[in-house]
Amino acid sequence: MMQRKSIDALQAEASESDEVLHEEGGHTLKRSLSGLDLTMLGIGCIIGAGIFVLTGHAAATNAGPAITISFVLGGIVCGLAGLCYAEMASTVPVSGSAYTYAYATMGEFIAWLIGWDLILEYAVGATTVAIGWSGYVVSFLHSLGVDIPARLSQAPFSYEPGHGWSHAGALLNVPAMVIVGLITMLLVIGIRESARVNSVIVVVKVVIVIAFIIAGIGYVDTAHWTTSTNPHGAFIPPNTGESGVYGMSGVLRGAAVVFFAYIGFDSVSTVAQETKNPSRDMPLGLLGSLAICTLLYVLVSYVLTGIVPYDKLNVADPIAVGVDAIGMRWLSPIVKLGAIFGLTSVVLVLLLSQPRIFYSMARDGLLPPFASKIHPRFRTPYITTIITGLIVMVLAGLLPIGLVGELVSIGTLFAFAVVCVGVLVLRITQPDLKRAFRTPAVFVVAPLGALSSVFLMAGLPADTWIRLIVWMAIGVVIYFGYGIRHSRLKISAAGRRVR
Ligand code: ALA
Repeated sequence: MMQRKSIDALQAEASESDEVLHEEGGHTLKRSLSGLDLTMLGIGCIIGAGIFVLTGHAAATNAGPAITISFVLGGIVCGLAGLCYAEMASTVPVSGSAYTYAYATMGEFIAWLIGWDLILEYAVGATTVAIGWSGYVVSFLHSLGVDIPARLSQAPFSYEPGHGWSHAGALLNVPAMVIVGLITMLLVIGIRESARVNSVIVVVKVVIVIAFIIAGIGYVDTAHWTTSTNPHGAFIPPNTGESGVYGMSGVLRGAAVVFFAYIGFDSVSTVAQETKNPSRDMPLGLLGSLAICTLLYVLVSYVLTGIVPYDKLNVADPIAVGVDAIGMRWLSPIVKLGAIFGLTSVVLVLLLSQPRIFYSMARDGLLPPFASKIHPRFRTPYITTIITGLIVMVLAGLLPIGLVGELVSIGTLFAFAVVCVGVLVLRITQPDLKRAFRTPAVFVVAPLGALSSVFLMAGLPADTWIRLIVWMAIGVVIYFGYGIRHSRLKISAAGRRVR
């Protein structure tokens, strides 16, 4: 359980050539991505439901105009974790991301737990965003006069904390299932093709976000900060007496909510084995995408709360409300289209990341070996891609969005904390290891990264914690039922002992 995989073994795995494996009847992933592709993948995964939907809700109910500070705080937490990811990804460029880093630093059991936890970030994340995508598309088509019946575009079940499950009357969320199916097909066909589609989408959505900032910045007026609960127009509205509703506690709660908007930069690390020059390009993709999105987020939130009083922003399409408020109604459908594009690439990159983690786990024997097969022609992990696609399709068709959203944040924050600790462990146990990227001031940055991640986790509701604990308990059962007996590391160690 405590056995670690050596860095040498991991580095050898990362540099395995197709020719060698081919003789054994296997194939490797295709190394075709550049630093720019990685940055685009990062942005593709980051800008989505968080900025297009959650910003308005968090400004209206938690932070007011100070949602801008919440975004700065979220950016700092992710920046600290991002620096640690960059060191790990440049040193151990294997597709398993946090799972692999934990295997090298904290042993197999913790690695399995993190691999299992990452399903919450990637597969459940893709489910959440696919459901959001469906909602946006249905409302967009409605504005064009095309109506998709609610029976075919909503979850059949709803869930209310305290009341439990009930039947919602609908049949299936078909649009959510269709988008997952289409993206899965693209992902099976090729990493290059998927990256190309992602890059086109990223250009469209970034242009729309920048257009919003440019269009709105001239209209920002601090008079909009004044509302019934904030008569003096304070930037941080006075706390209402309830924790998390305005005041400093509201800013912190806002940071926990909008953290979702940053999720995804770490997905860059899952394509390490498909990157031409991972030790140089991994840090670039991880930190570059995060820096660009942090800047855009801070500007968008500042402009949005400067042009619309924040108490009017608790809507599904706050940015569209913003452009309506400055009289640019023609920009509103374009913004909605931008959100649909935005969410599409988030689903794409999340669905691209999950199979690569399963692939690494299967190669290590912690999941059945057939899952580590690479397609001979497409050179993609097609088995895990199809399995992930099918699972996410079913979940997206059946589940309500409220059940899954915060689970994604808590799962991701947990992985961040482990990666930060992992960097420290490796610095202490192997100080002389060659690292292409070194986290600056690591003995400050890594503990702060871990602590701030745990701090944001603490801000999430109790039922999300319960779901996390139940999920991890299922993972523990599966590990003891399967992984511990099939682990390749354990089997090879036992083989050495017999010899
Ligand atoms: N960051 C991604 C989004 O906001 C998950 O949709």
